[in-house]
Amino acid sequence: MTRSFVVLGGSGDLTGRLLLPGLAELFEAGVLDGEVDVLAVSREDWTDEEYRDWARRRLDAHAAHVPEQTRERVVRRLGYVRGDVTVAGDLRRALDRVEDVPVVYLALPNTVFRPTLEALAEVGLPEGGIVAVEKPFGRDGADARELNRILHGMAPEDAVFRTDHFLAKQTVLNVLGLRFANRLFEPVWNAAHVESVEIVFDETLGLEGRAGYYDTAGALRDMLQNHLLQLLALVAMEPPLAVDAAGLAARKGDVLRAVQPPADVATGTVRGRYTAGRVGDRDLPDYATEDGVDPDRETETYAEFTVTVDNWRWSGVPFRLRSGKALGADRREIVLRFRPVPHLAFTDEDPEPDVLRMRLDPDGIALEVNLNGAGDPFDLERRVLDIALPPAGLSAYGLLLREMLAGDAALSISDVEAEESWRIVEPILAAWAAGEAPLRDYPAGSDGPLPGHDQGT
Ligand code: BG6
Repeated sequence: MTRSFVVLGGSGDLTGRLLLPGLAELFEAGVLDGEVDVLAVSREDWTDEEYRDWARRRLDAHAAHVPEQTRERVVRRLGYVRGDVTVAGDLRRALDRVEDVPVVYLALPNTVFRPTLEALAEVGLPEGGIVAVEKPFGRDGADARELNRILHGMAPEDAVFRTDHFLAKQTVLNVLGLRFANRLFEPVWNAAHVESVEIVFDETLGLEGRAGYYDTAGALRDMLQNHLLQLLALVAMEPPLAVDAAGLAARKGDVLRAVQPPADVATGTVRGRYTAGRVGDRDLPDYATEDGVDPDRETETYAEFTVTVDNWRWSGVPFRLRSGKALGADRREIVLRFRPVPHLAFTDEDPEPDVLRMRLDPDGIALEVNLNGAGDPFDLERRVLDIALPPAGLSAYGLLLREMLAGDAALSISDVEAEESWRIVEPILAAWAAGEAPLRDYPAGSDGPLPGHDQGT
């Protein structure tokens, strides 16, 4: 089925940086055969031609890897409607311009999801239409439930995409391949053999001019509530009946239901905010003094929590999730540390237990094991079986858009998952707001608020 792509927030950063480049990749790969019309809706007083000029510049800046003539083919499919996305009449005008069944994408700040969906519900989503909502899905659990209620009133669950581009990252998809296409890993993938799981997304990037969104979100809402909990769900879930929308939603939903928030927020979480410092060759200012930041909001740029998954498979295993901005090094990985061998038959000192690392950007999978040494064969040596995955053909947004336009919701967050994820982080948000965990300063370029606390050996 040919679909049209209607992007609400069509002149926004996300559209220019990720959605239009993703579409350009699909045009280049021949996936869409140049047949998708794109209609952008935004407040700017622009004509179609002025919008195309803006889009051309964004594509030049962010899709340089796609040949210029392909970028131009995308530009020629773009149309523009000036409007307020929270006003039903404006949305109706936009949808009236669309000939094919639409994918309506809310590329908007989460504070306007609700009025926008209310307006869309008033207009009605055309039969067979798809609605896609960016992350984070709402402000809190109550908001997410309300968004789900409105969405369910206008479309079946399999026509709703709650976007999480991490689900389209190569290593993340490979959690499924590694676990469920091999005999080797699944028998040890449980509390009897795994001692701890760490899911880390440390970034050297700072605020990068995103105060308008980020200062009201913070690291917990921006990264852990969605991206990192989705990674936890894929790592910890039971085998799905099929790797498809229904199979994944059922198993991810189940495992998120089993996640218990930290019992003690003071010891089970870390909350930090960066101060001025040097990251690589860049000087970053104190977060609190950045343009558009309200320092009294005490927005965290680093968040960490440890949870347990209270089910048969994982009982007692800590899952530690962390993400921070302006850190000294990019470290993006899922790490499973295995338990020591039950009996060591070597006279060597205790070797390090096995470690499996699934690295993101650049993608790769590494298994750290102990082998007989090359010199003295009775001295053990640490060796790494390392698979570097070749760069993915499509960016994460390219792949997400491909799936969306094909109407396949496998790479989406389900209604249950979205609500369960809020259930997990809400007690932390509440305790932080009540001052139960200190907001710790860390200099940009450092290891984070608790130096040495986690070097992920
Ligand atoms: C986004 C967050 O969803 O993911 C950003 O809003 C973060 O703060 C980004 O930097 C990380 O993903 P990627 O794919 O850009 O590395």
